[in-house]
Amino acid sequence: MKTPEVLISEEEIQTRVGELARQISADYGDDSDLVMVGVLKGSFIFLADLSRRMEIPRTIEFIAVSSYENGSVSSGAVRLVMDVRGNIEGKHVLIVEDIVDTGHTLKYLIGMMKTHRAKSVKTAALIRKAEAAEVEVTIDYLGFDIGNEWVVGYGLDYAEQNRTLPYIGVIKPTDV
Ligand code: PRP
Repeated sequence: MKTPEVLISEEEIQTRVGELARQISADYGDDSDLVMVGVLKGSFIFLADLSRRMEIPRTIEFIAVSSYENGSVSSGAVRLVMDVRGNIEGKHVLIVEDIVDTGHTLKYLIGMMKTHRAKSVKTAALIRKAEAAEVEVTIDYLGFDIGNEWVVGYGLDYAEQNRTLPYIGVIKPTDV
């Protein structure tokens, strides 16, 4: 596979992640019982960087869902693969996503956290593909809006490749 072209540089990402961490810390404050729920696999790098730059108490959970069962096109059907391990009842939950595309996954997860009786549910996503939205979903803390490109890096993959690139890169059909 060719080296993906840079869409969002490492420096731009790190600057924005720092801003989001400060904003989240200020909004929740020291006394909130905050649980950050990372959505596997794609969010692992964003969650690691974001959580380490926050200045308030927080715990970390992971959840895994599967939506792209048949290749790269979302079917809209979300399946829970692994639930959070800890009890989130009565806690403030911040769902952390790498990318919001159609919005089905995030919508499903917000519902799921409410079912778990979270005290509040908010969302953070590094990237949103605004044009791809099929359902309306609120992203409380958004890194960047992008077009309909296929992107990799900073947790995002194409066929499991390129997740650990430090920047967000674009894959073209001729690259794979
Ligand atoms: C990606 C991303 C979101 C979901 C967003 O995960 O991490 O969870 O797709 O798509 P949607 O808005 O259309 O629902 P993916 O299924 O690629 O799994 P991965 O994180 O394990 O790579």
